[in-house]
Amino acid sequence: MGGRGESIPDNDGQISMQERNRRILAVDATVGNGHDTLFLAECVGANGLVYGFDIQSAAIEAASNRLSDARLLQRVVLLEAGHERLAEMLPQDTKGNLQAVMFNLGYLPGGDKSVITRADTTVRALQTALEWLAPQGVITCVIYPGHPGGAEESDRVLQWARTVDQRQAQVLWYRFLNQQNRPPTLLAISRNG
Ligand SMILES: C[S@@+](CC[C@H](N)C(=O)[O-])C[C@H]1O[C@@H](n2cnc3c(N)ncnc32)[C@H](O)[C@@H]1O
Repeated sequence: MGGRGESIPDNDGQISMQERNRRILAVDATVGNGHDTLFLAECVGANGLVYGFDIQSAAIEAASNRLSDARLLQRVVLLEAGHERLAEMLPQDTKGNLQAVMFNLGYLPGGDKSVITRADTTVRALQTALEWLAPQGVITCVIYPGHPGGAEESDRVLQWARTVDQRQAQVLWYRFLNQQNRPPTLLAISRNG
């Protein structure tokens, strides 16, 4: 989460009010059933805020119920919109202040398998997320190459990831070496400080 906790001492060894009041901001770019949204809501703490994007009302509803059951709905703003609209949907003062952005690509588990994330919009959203990330902030992206359309999206996302300037961010790609077929892979991008 970028290492900007609430208890960083200032030069006098005191915890500055500014640091105490700093809001941890995160984005779930693919809300789905809300598991990752809930995880982020727990991570950001009582003062933090999570923005969640999904294009399906069924996903927004499922996530809303999950957050409500956990009594954490007040930490989340759920947006029924594509993640490629991040720059127009989020307040401008969140630019450069996002500590974490999570993508979990593919289709909604238990939902309509024809509604999938698409290479064009995913890459646009990843690029914007990188630009809006705080120093030391992190993007994670779980990529599923196994479903129809998934391999193309995986190729395009990795192609984009290779172009990220190493002075801007570190880009790592995690893969299974011992799983059959086309297992998911994980892209982790951490913005330099
Ligand atoms: C694999 S699911 C996400 C699972 C979710 N992270 C969870 O914890 O349950 C992918 C989701 O991406 C959503 N999606 C597809 N295109 C999108 C877009 N352009 N912007 C935001 N979400 C999108 C789908 O509707 C689907 O719910």
